[in-house]
Amino acid sequence: TFPKSVRIVEVGARDGLQNEKTVVPAATKIELIDRLTACGLQTIEATSFVSPKWVPQLADAAEVYTGIHKRDGVAYPVLVPNEKGYDRAREVGVTEIAVFSAASEAFNRKNINASIDESIERFRPVLERAKADGVKVRGYVSTVLGCPYQGEVPVSDVVRVAERLHALGCYEISLGDTIGVGTPEKARAMLRAVAEAVPMSALAVHFHDTYGQALANLHACLEEGVSVVDSAVSGTGGCPYAKGATGNVATEDVAYMLAGMGIATGIDLDALVETGLWLSAQLGRATSSRVAKARSSH
Ligand code: HMG
Ligand code: MG
Repeated sequence: TFPKSVRIVEVGARDGLQNEKTVVPAATKIELIDRLTACGLQTIEATSFVSPKWVPQLADAAEVYTGIHKRDGVAYPVLVPNEKGYDRAREVGVTEIAVFSAASEAFNRKNINASIDESIERFRPVLERAKADGVKVRGYVSTVLGCPYQGEVPVSDVVRVAERLHALGCYEISLGDTIGVGTPEKARAMLRAVAEAVPMSALAVHFHDTYGQALANLHACLEEGVSVVDSAVSGTGGCPYAKGATGNVATEDVAYMLAGMGIATGIDLDALVETGLWLSAQLGRATSSRVAKARSSH
């Protein structure tokens, strides 16, 4: 059965901008996040405190996080890959973070230069410190429906990594189809299997739309009862270490579908469409949101 309401985790400022060819100024990122706050989003991933050599696009993480106008009741999590990232995030007062691993060894190696086991060992002290500091930690599992290096990813590997991150203390596990190759019944089966090990209320789904399947995958997973959905305004996104992957499913399109299904999100769709069009103008290209295209074509 479908959930009554859905919390959208807006990842455009992080996943959306980490892969841009041109450097997006910090002021633009700050304006984006402030606009998203005004659209009624409850969770807005702000940036990543990863190595600036690995992701130059987000080297301005501290400046962006400090510059945004944080609204009470809205969470602004950031990605943290290790203790160094945790230190940098805490220096500017971050109160919610996300750690990230993958169901595929080969992808994990390319993305964070570690095996799955090593990455989990790296997160252990981060989670211990976060617990002591009262910082909430989300966990990402990438390549849950396919890997750019390994191809097929067994569902049992997804379950194992999700279970370990949850056991380590992550309050929510986001299941990422990093390269957007999944199809609805495959996504449903994967989610069902994970939900046997981690409660559905602690799961989120994160679909990239490379093959145009994201909304269909989402619909199947909503029917299974998942109630947290990651998406990016204007459909930006991609991972620099996942060649060929395109953007996340557009938040505008998710919000439109959910509204049509009578599922509450708290989002002002008109304001969101405007924000997405503003962002695509800043980036100098067309929006990937079908809803935004439909609404701006007359
Ligand atoms: P490494 O090179 O193995 O790290 O990278 P290291 O520990 O050997 O350190 C090398 C240098 O980096 C040192 O500096 C460190 O101080 C520095 P040097 O001595 O050479 O001057 N360093 C840092 N600097 C700033 N902040 C830090 C940090 N850590 C080390 N946190 C590392 C390992 C994990 C750091 C690197 O691989 C990395 O940063 N990777 C991040 C990659 C990334 O951000 N990928 C995209 C996000 S994941 C994603 O998009 C998927 C998702 O959307 C879900 C989905 O779609 O599936 C979440
Ligand atoms: Mg992603």
